[in-house]
Parts: sequence; structure tokens; C-alpha cells
Amino acid sequence: MASSTTTLPQTMKRLLQVSRDSTEIICTTAPLPVPTHPEDVLVRVHAAAPCAGELLWARFTDAIPADKELVPCQDLAGTVVTAPASNPGGFAPGDRVYCRIHATRPGAARDYALPRASELAKIPPSLGWIEAAATPLSALTAWQALFVQGTLDARAIKGDAAARKENAKIRVLVTGAGGGVGSWAVQLAALAGAKAVVAVCGRDKGEAVRALGATEVVDYTQTSIEEWVAAGPAGREVDLVVEMIGGKTLAGSWAAVKEGGALISIHTPPEYGKPEGMTKQLSKALWFIVEPLGSNLAEIGELIEAGRVRPTVDSVWEFADFKKAFERVDSGHAKGKVIIKVSDEA
Ligand SMILES: NC(=O)c1ccc[n+]([C@@H]2O[C@H](COP(=O)([O-])OP(=O)(O)OC[C@H]3O[C@@H](n4cnc5c(N)ncnc54)[C@H](OP(=O)(O)O)[C@@H]3O)[C@@H](O)[C@H]2O)c1
Repeated sequence: MASSTTTLPQTMKRLLQVSRDSTEIICTTAPLPVPTHPEDVLVRVHAAAPCAGELLWARFTDAIPADKELVPCQDLAGTVVTAPASNPGGFAPGDRVYCRIHATRPGAARDYALPRASELAKIPPSLGWIEAAATPLSALTAWQALFVQGTLDARAIKGDAAARKENAKIRVLVTGAGGGVGSWAVQLAALAGAKAVVAVCGRDKGEAVRALGATEVVDYTQTSIEEWVAAGPAGREVDLVVEMIGGKTLAGSWAAVKEGGALISIHTPPEYGKPEGMTKQLSKALWFIVEPLGSNLAEIGELIEAGRVRPTVDSVWEFADFKKAFERVDSGHAKGKVIIKVSDEA
């Protein structure tokens, strides 16, 4: 085990969800987490990010183990304190790292956290702690929705001519386009050379999503997706939808996707929102949970460093204001990620 020479404190501050059935969070003091898994890396956390709806996961899914210590905020940016002598990414004390911690393990709203080496990537030098913490979940989810579960080919980003030719035939529609995941999906789809990137978002976000690469904007407060498809010229339907809102928006996504197209949801399984009488056969209609892969994050980091994509930060909150940070996330109208400062360095 490689470790930094800094003396570690006995205890740390941490946020804790009081129970699986409650969304109340309290601030407590706790001992530092102790590495037990061969891939555990002890990280001093500087900034952490909550995810919309995360305080409901333990109540509604058995995927969260009964004995999970309910520390919220699975995304972090921080400094490696100790790392296994040999680990997949060669992480060592002092490295600036960011990651998403798998939702089955305690999160990062505490001074020290325990991501695994396979979840980590080095922070691109041009990113500060805040922007770094804003990246992992949103960027990874968008990446996997478009390129792993969806039908765009990521090789196009690095200029692969065959991939660019195929992507240039694909019209993409992104719901929640002005939020954490959506703002990444818009950028990555545009970067991969999609034929069109239709962004569905609220009125105040049109300009921002166009700046990220959206070619068409649908203001859902004025026009439903169904109305937009029906009112426009032939050819408004899309080949790939990335959906993250559920309810009417999911139903609208069925209207927007072409026969044979792909509907990828991170909110509700598409079949649950299929309008009655809908007979469309899709090549893919699926819901998935993001894989917290450091390898994907490293690829995204290269794009950030090259200035081709960037995280979007909605707001930054002091640790003591954690309740306000969660209220902002749970408003459902954030313009990018909500960040909680954990150390004075952030
Ligand atoms: N399955 C997974 O692995 C996974 C991973 C990440 C996130 N998620 C889930 O995906 C969802 C989105 O996450 P996020 O972090 O991007 O949330 P977020 O940052 O809160 O963004 C949601 C965005 O949707 C917009 N919105 C609300 N109603 C809308 C509508 N009817 N049509 C279009 N846009 C609408 C909101 O702002 P405006 O209304 O102001 O435009 C906001 O910008 C959450 O439910 C989250 O739990 C799932």
C-alpha cells in the first residue's frame, strides 16, 4: 500500500441519510473509512456532487445493500491518500482524481472516501475541483447512453471516417437537455457527428444547449414532443432518443423515435411509458444504470483537455449548506450539476 506522509485525522465530517425510508440528511462525525477491498483507494475529497433522486434509491430498489452506510453523493473530485501498491490505473498518493463511486457503496459527502481504482481517472489538468466533481456521473451516463447502449459510434470522435459516415445518418433527440446528463449527451452527440441533435429543455436553456451543439431546440413548456413531431416537416422523427424525464416525456419520446429506431432511457423502462395503441417496433428500447468506469472517464478527460467538451455547473454550495444543495437538485430544474464543497481547497 502506497501512502502519503501526511498524518491523517482520527475523525472526519460526513453527511448521512438517516434511514432508507427517509430523505433527511444530517451532518455527523465519523472515523475515516478503512480500505478492505484490494482495489480500495483512500481519497481526500475536495468536492462532491449529488444526483437527482438519489435519496430515494435505497427505498425503491433492492440493488442498494441493506447494510450500506448511507453517505450520499456518489461523485467526487479529490486527492489520493493511499492506494494499493499495484492497481489498474497506477494511482498513487497525491494524484488528482475524480470518479463515480458505485451506488452500492457509501458516497463521497465526507472528508475521505473509498473509491475503487477501476472507478478512478486522473483529473484533466485544466479542470478545477468543482468542474471535476461535476463530470463523472453525467458524462459517463451520456457516453454510455449514446455509444454503449445507443447507436452512435464513439470512434467518430477521433475521426474514424466510417464511423463518421454512419453517425451522419443518425438524428438524435435528448430530453432533459439542459441538465447534468443532458448537457453532456448534447455535446457528445454533436461531437460524434450526429446528423441532428434535438434538445428538449425549458425556455431558459435554449441558448445554452445550442452553444453545446444542439441543432434544434424544443421548449417543452410551450410544445410537447408529440406536437413538435406532428407539426414539423416530414423527417422530424429521430433514430435515437436519450430519455431521462419519464411520464409524458417518455410517451413523447415514443412519438419521436422512428420505426426501427432506438429509445434509451435512464429514468423509466421504455415499455412502462409506451402509449396505448403504439405499434412501433424499435431496434432497442431499454433502461440502464450507468457503469462507473474509470476507463470511460479517462476518454472523456482527453476530450475535456482538448477543449472539445466541458462540464456544466449549476451551483456551488458550502458543506454546511448541504440541505440547500439537495433542494436545488430535487427542484428538477438544475442547469448542470450542483456541487458541494467538502474541503477548503475547493
Ligand atoms: N440510470 C442511470 O444510470 C442514471 C444516471 C444518471 C442520472 N439518472 C437519472 O436521470 C435523470 C436526470 O438526471 P440529471 O442529473 O441530468 O438531472 P438534472 O441535472 O436535474 O436535469 C434534469 C433536467 O431536465 C429538465 N426537465 C425537467 N422536466 C423536463 C421535461 N418535461 N422535458 C425536458 N426537460 C425537462 C430540467 O430543467 P428545465 O425543466 O428547466 O429544462 C433539468 O435541466 C434523473 O432522474 C436521474 O436520477 C439515471
